[in-house]
Amino acid sequence: MKKKSKFKKNIQKKLIRLGVNIDHAATLRQVRAGTTKYPDLIEMCKLAKAGGAQQITIHLREDRRHIQDSDVKNILQKRILKINLEMAVTTEMLKIALKQRPDWVCFVPEKREELTTEGGLDVVKMVEKLKPMIQLLKEKKIKVSLFIEPSIDQVMASREVGADAVEFHTGRWVLLSGIKKKTEWQRLNNASVVANDLEMSVHAGHGLDYEHAKLVSKLVYLQEANIGHSLICYALTDGLKTSVQKMFRSLND
Ligand code: PXP
Repeated sequence: MKKKSKFKKNIQKKLIRLGVNIDHAATLRQVRAGTTKYPDLIEMCKLAKAGGAQQITIHLREDRRHIQDSDVKNILQKRILKINLEMAVTTEMLKIALKQRPDWVCFVPEKREELTTEGGLDVVKMVEKLKPMIQLLKEKKIKVSLFIEPSIDQVMASREVGADAVEFHTGRWVLLSGIKKKTEWQRLNNASVVANDLEMSVHAGHGLDYEHAKLVSKLVYLQEANIGHSLICYALTDGLKTSVQKMFRSLND
């Protein structure tokens, strides 16, 4: 009981960490099938750090449409910031993570035909598959988050499989308006309370721009936001360092 209240107190005092997802810098490079060395992803990591980010997030997709295996290796070798590796729940990805040892693995659902990660992971249906995978990652001191919809069932299943954190999919909430947006916000808050009660960290991500970063910063117990597409788009006009600074302020002012 005492331990639980201490956990809550610590979380509320902390700044919200910003994880900068640089997948779309790699997307630009892959438009020319990787024949160019630019944009330099290590420079992107340095600029994210200079702008005040705490983490770099990369998604090694099964179709390798943006981040490549060599990027994962290189970014982890240089380790300018902590690295959060997003990946599908597959044996291939697990092997890569165990070998490359990022600080965090975030398991996400993946479909080849999708434009971006659509919906959250169905942890309820994957308990038996995820449990041993998470166990192996933890043995290597890699922390694990699960990208899920803000549903109580999914949060409880995430605890059951041994996740350290849940990352709530904010994409739906971002696109809604009016009463539907309010209802989705309530779902996010309710799920965050349960995740915190179960001693998991609360992360959020998907579709966040400056405005929604400011709004999502009010999510109860939020510790971390992972943001990519808007930041890379803002960077085209403002530069990455300035965009990261502005985003961090949206989360924490
Ligand atoms: N978090 C997760 C788990 C994701 O899959 C993505 C998209 O790659 C993001 C965060 C970042 O979303 P966006 O690019 O819309 O900011």
